[in-house]
Amino acid sequence: MYILGIETSCDETAAAIVNEKGDILANIVLSQLKEHLAFGGVVPEIAARAHIDHLHTLIKAAMDDAGLSFKDIDGVAATCGPGLIGGVMVGMIAGKAIAASQNLPFIAVNHLEGHALTPRLTDQIEFPYLLLLVSGGHTQILVAEDVGTYKLWGTTLDDAAGECFDKSAKLMGLPYPGGPEIQKIAGECEDPAAALKRFALPSPMKGRKTLDFSFSGLKTAVRLAVEALPEGDLQRTDIADLACAFQTTVADVIADRCKRAIDRFKTEYNSAAPALVVSGGVAANTAIRQRLELLCENHAMRAYAPPVSLCGDNAAMIAWAGLERLQKGLTDNLDFKARPRWPLNDMGNNNAA
Ligand code: KG4
Ligand code: ZN
Repeated sequence: MYILGIETSCDETAAAIVNEKGDILANIVLSQLKEHLAFGGVVPEIAARAHIDHLHTLIKAAMDDAGLSFKDIDGVAATCGPGLIGGVMVGMIAGKAIAASQNLPFIAVNHLEGHALTPRLTDQIEFPYLLLLVSGGHTQILVAEDVGTYKLWGTTLDDAAGECFDKSAKLMGLPYPGGPEIQKIAGECEDPAAALKRFALPSPMKGRKTLDFSFSGLKTAVRLAVEALPEGDLQRTDIADLACAFQTTVADVIADRCKRAIDRFKTEYNSAAPALVVSGGVAANTAIRQRLELLCENHAMRAYAPPVSLCGDNAAMIAWAGLERLQKGLTDNLDFKARPRWPLNDMGNNNAA
């Protein structure tokens, strides 16, 4: 079974083809970084136009990479939300057009479900598993019980983790997207323990009984720390220290929330091989990955993070989510409406055909 996946919900235009064995036959991602660089963030109108410019070429290239033609494809999956609605509609309409013209099933994929199911594409992780979804728009702790069935245990009360990386990076004078930039410059910090003392950043929600997150206080603390630095050009060594302290604090807060979630998971679910899966763009962060690995080691949990290339937005995860849905008979009508907001714990059955 071959599924074509299309992703256009933010600033990556992507097309991919996967099969039921988890082989990724093609996976093409075109980042619009350059288009948005001057604006310090993603401009929705520019993103939508760039998707229109490139998507058809990318789909053709993915088909060529896989050595397939449309008649070999068994279904078309496109991200139909959540995300920037103009961009979402570009990919959704392209997917519907191919499905209609080739008489193929269409699968409306929730972008977050793409991130959530990635560990099943790459590592056949069994349900149920504990899922930490950390991206530019979301920070959630969920239990993935089955395809389409997610229990939301905790979410951010304000900014998402990736958003906090991006905004803090901007305050530090680093370019967008801030996550990879902070990770890079934090690596230059010579004494991480001293940096943590030097910039005593708050750890919002740490120790709280709920499983929620909050990141806006941390961002404000970064602003105050930058303002307190000596006037003039920001020194690279100062920023390296601050970035390192920031990254350690975020990893610490995330580990604290996950520790609590692991305890709850072990009480409520009887899993033979309990796993904590971290997914989404921020899951590419090495400090966070290492911190979660250590946490899991100490709590007899399997830690799993997708390969870095599949953490950020891509269409292989969309194709895979489409494939898992199609295997369960969950296809969608061609009048499916794009959903700018689409919580994972309220998937319904889309509008299954
Ligand atoms: O999942 P994603 O590609 O797009 C959304 O669906 O949001 O996540 C993008 C987010 C951005 O905020 C970016 O700064 C963050 O992931 N990110 C990272 C790293 N790589 C990407 N954050 C921390 N460390 C990284 N290495
Ligand atoms: Zn994403």
